[in-house]
Parts: sequence; structure tokens; C-alpha cells
Amino acid sequence: MAVERTFSMIKPDATRDNLTGKITARLEENGLRVVASKRVWMSRKQAEGFYAVHSARGFFNELCEFMSSGPTVVQVLEGENAILKNREIMGATDPSKAAVGTIRRDFAKSIGENAVHGSDAPETAKQEIAYWFSELEIVG
Ligand code: CMP
Repeated sequence: MAVERTFSMIKPDATRDNLTGKITARLEENGLRVVASKRVWMSRKQAEGFYAVHSARGFFNELCEFMSSGPTVVQVLEGENAILKNREIMGATDPSKAAVGTIRRDFAKSIGENAVHGSDAPETAKQEIAYWFSELEIVG
């Protein structure tokens, strides 16, 4: 299995509830290493740019409003099969459908306020990492 990098965000609902440490511990306990991390309060424009792929969806406005409503922790995670592993640790987008023991099952409030985001494929991981980090900020 290859060592990969993926992008992760701890969303404003989770930072508001002071869950940054608990969520990061779940990632680390499952073999992922945080190789870059920063706390940002993204602007509406940054949220729109990050989620541009969803711009035609009915929830886009609500999503960008929420993502710019408070601090977010953006991270780069590294590990074997990191993209898929992170998605397993996060659980399904809708917390009511997320498996027992996943971050979203335990900490998310709703499909909109769902605690975390993680890249879904190698190409998106690359784009999402580059959206928030320069190479110099990633220390493996
Ligand atoms: P995320 O993994 O960050 O990717 C896109 C986000 O859109 C998703 O998590 C959800 O938080 C959000 N989203 C998806 N579907 C809906 C929906 N029906 N209503 C509100 N937000 C949604």
C-alpha cells in the first residue's frame, strides 16, 4: 500500500464545540499523521472557491455561509491509504447514516454541520491541499 496525503478540515460547528483535539486524536489513533495544520476563519469568497464543484447545488449558499461563520482547522494528513482511511474514520456525510464509532456519528449535528471534510480522491486531495498550503508548510 502506498503512503498518501489527504486534506482534512475540522468545520466551524466542531471548533465552536472545542473538538479540535478529540477529532485530531481519532485521526492519529487510526494511523494518520498531521503533517500540516492551521486554524483559519475563511472568507465567503474562499469558501465559494473551495466548494466551487458544488456551486450548482441547492445547498451551496447555506454551505458557504456556514463554512465562513467561524474558525476551521485545515490539515494535511499522511499515511498508508490516507484518502480512504480518512473517509472511513469520518463516516458518511449525513451523520444519521454514519457508522458507529465514526467522527460524524459521534460529533456531527446534521448533513450541513457535519464536523469534518475529507478529500474523496487523489486528484481532489492534491487540489485541496494546494488551496490552503504551500509546499513549505507541509513537514512530513
Ligand atoms: P463535505 O464533505 O464538506 O462536502 C460538501 C458538503 O456539502 C458536505 O460535506 C455537507 O456538509 C454539505 N452538504 C451536502 N449535502 C447537503 C445538503 N443536502 N444540505 C446542506 N449541506 C449539504
